[in-house]
Amino acid sequence: MDSWAHYLDQVLFAVLPYVAVFTLILVTIQRYRAQRFSYSSLSSQFLENRQHFWGLVPFHYGILTIIAGHVVAFLIPREILAWNSHPLRLYILELSALVFALMTLIGLLAGMVRRWTNPKIRIVTSASDWIIYLLLFVQIVSGIYVAVFYPWGSSWFSTSAAPYLWSLVKLNPDVSFVASMPHMVKLHIINAFLLIGFFPFTRLVHILVIPNPYLWRKPQVVRWYGKPKETAGGGA
Ligand code: HEM
Repeated sequence: MDSWAHYLDQVLFAVLPYVAVFTLILVTIQRYRAQRFSYSSLSSQFLENRQHFWGLVPFHYGILTIIAGHVVAFLIPREILAWNSHPLRLYILELSALVFALMTLIGLLAGMVRRWTNPKIRIVTSASDWIIYLLLFVQIVSGIYVAVFYPWGSSWFSTSAAPYLWSLVKLNPDVSFVASMPHMVKLHIINAFLLIGFFPFTRLVHILVIPNPYLWRKPQVVRWYGKPKETAGGGA
């Protein structure tokens, strides 16, 4: 049993991350060569605007801040620990992260409800859209769960998650940092790899063609010509 658990940990935390990153790189390059013009979020703003805006903006500001926070914690773990050594600063960091995480969740839910309830939008929503919604939902809910029930994540990220991620970067994966983590933390990490691997198959590739001007410009009408199914990610 123990050896099975050990084997599974190796597959999920030492093999899956590389499979995910290779898939990301290879499919991204292949898709760029074969279907360059499918690098888009396939905006559906023209189908209706206002409701879209209220989900889209909190989601983007939320997730970009959260991802930036993860990257900073990965790059400068010692500085994060030093910052957290004063309880007040730790609370400020944790609370602001939680606010941005909730913003992301609200924005995501607004997007899901909109796609589900608006018939015009549902028709241009592909299976890959629903899969990426599900993966994002699991990622954000598990992250919030971890932040709330296993305090103080910003500190133990520095001592456990950051060294684990660095071991991956150095091509010498050390699963021992994560093997004894609670199930929800493991789910959060595994789901992140699934998100990375699935990313190039979806409309999320639009991230690779930043800047995304809708973060600061007024909502505007965008039209897509051609049949939705012709473009990867499907939809208008
Ligand atoms: C696609 C990538 C990822 C996304 C979108 C994501 C998203 C989130 C979100 C929304 C939260 C809640 C924020 C909070 O309230 O603190 C969170 C927390 C957390 N995540 Fe992630 N995550 C990702 C990848 C990872 C990875 C790869 C790890 C570790 C190897 C990780 C470790 C953590 C930890 C430890 C927390 C708790 C932080 C705290 O308590 O302040 N995340 N994540």
